[in-house]
Amino acid sequence: MNRTPIFPPWMDQLIKLLGAGAAVSGLYVVMMINFGASPKTLNAGYMPEQPVPYSHALHVGELGLDCRYCHTTVESAGFAAVPPTETCMNCHGKIAPTSMKLKPVRDSFSTGMPVPWIKVHDLPDFVYFNHSAHVTRGVSCVECHGRIDQMEEVQQVAALSMGWCLECHRNPESRLRPVDKVTDLDWGLERTPEVKATEGRELMKDLGLYDASGQPTVRMTLMTNCSTCHR
Ligand code: HEC
Ligand code: HEC
Ligand code: HEC
Ligand code: HEC
Ligand code: HEC
Repeated sequence: MNRTPIFPPWMDQLIKLLGAGAAVSGLYVVMMINFGASPKTLNAGYMPEQPVPYSHALHVGELGLDCRYCHTTVESAGFAAVPPTETCMNCHGKIAPTSMKLKPVRDSFSTGMPVPWIKVHDLPDFVYFNHSAHVTRGVSCVECHGRIDQMEEVQQVAALSMGWCLECHRNPESRLRPVDKVTDLDWGLERTPEVKATEGRELMKDLGLYDASGQPTVRMTLMTNCSTCHR
């Protein structure tokens, strides 16, 4: 638990005090969002240079590999895991075996030292995030990472600020899809806002976020609780 540096005791008091008045706590949340939006953390556009010019546009967009072929843990764990060198060598033992671009991959394979990939997305440690919780509930990679299947180099497209997370947590309806479509990034582009809303309402019921009559459940109110993301 990493609470002390960001939540001084008065903050707990404040949360208790403000919990009662919806209008006031709304204001408080706005304040927090402004805090959360410090320039240090708004990394949209961040695109570090990687040790190997690996292209998602080629491997996913053209060759059609599924995200889970490489990011094997997205459905089962909190983290998404960048693939080990063995995954690349399944193909690159034979494909482009003398390419200079792949030299660091071959070196890694022979020495056993991992390729030093540079992390693109990085939330502060005091935020709890979990991939499987999203991916197994119908939130697609594209909602948070954009069109990775078209990127030559991975770029962070969303702010990953608290306000950005909350925008969806307050109203996820139109951002949900059937679970078996989460890695199809170009699925449903033709869906109108009306279709998204109708289908979304059913998916919300399936998830238990709405009850049978379409009213938000306790589970839904937990999505905006501080302790869901700060534990
Ligand atoms: C052939 C293996 C492979 C496949 C398939 C693949 N990726 Fe990746 N992915 C990688 C590698 C290697 C990296 C690390 C290098 C980089 O950032 O480009 C990476 C990095 C990423 C990152 C950035 C991670 C960070 O550091 O923050 C995201 C996001 C991502 N992939 C999403 C996806 C999505 C979404 C799909 C499916 C549409 C996908 N990947 C399919 C190999 C793969
Ligand atoms: C399913 C097979 C497959 C897997 C798995 C795979 N690749 Fe590839 N990769 C290809 C193919 C096919 C090409 C195109 C080769 C060509 O154009 O000659 C390619 C091309 C490349 C190139 C460009 C090579 C050049 O000289 O232009 C790089 C770099 C690359 N892959 C990196 C990786 C990395 C890193 C991984 C593991 C994260 C990976 N690949 C996993 C099939 C694969
Ligand atoms: C609800 C938003 C969201 C969805 C959906 C999502 N991601 Fe992420 N992803 C993130 C965030 C936030 C991070 C940074 C996590 C951190 O720093 O702790 C991240 C990080 C990553 C990383 C870097 C490794 C890691 O775990 O930190 C990879 C790879 C990745 N995502 C791949 C995927 C793939 C593939 C999918 C779809 C199957 C996906 N993500 C769906 C938000 C999302
Ligand atoms: C596009 C919509 C969307 C975005 C963006 C999003 N989430 Fe979620 N999140 C969801 C949905 C849907 C659930 C599932 C709620 C449920 O089933 O109870 C969820 C659940 C969670 C949970 C609960 C996990 C568990 O099982 O206890 C956490 C924690 C969480 N999100 C953190 C985050 C954080 C942190 C961010 C921003 C970095 C974020 N989310 C961005 C839609 C989203
Ligand atoms: C859906 C997830 C989510 C929920 C719910 C949430 N937060 Fe956050 N919070 C975040 C994320 C993500 C960040 C990191 C923002 C950044 O790095 O810009 C953050 C950052 C913060 C920070 C640090 C601000 C800073 O300057 O870095 C504070 C304080 C905070 N949150 C308080 C709260 C309080 C109080 C609540 C309840 C009213 C709350 N959070 C609810 C996701 C959430």
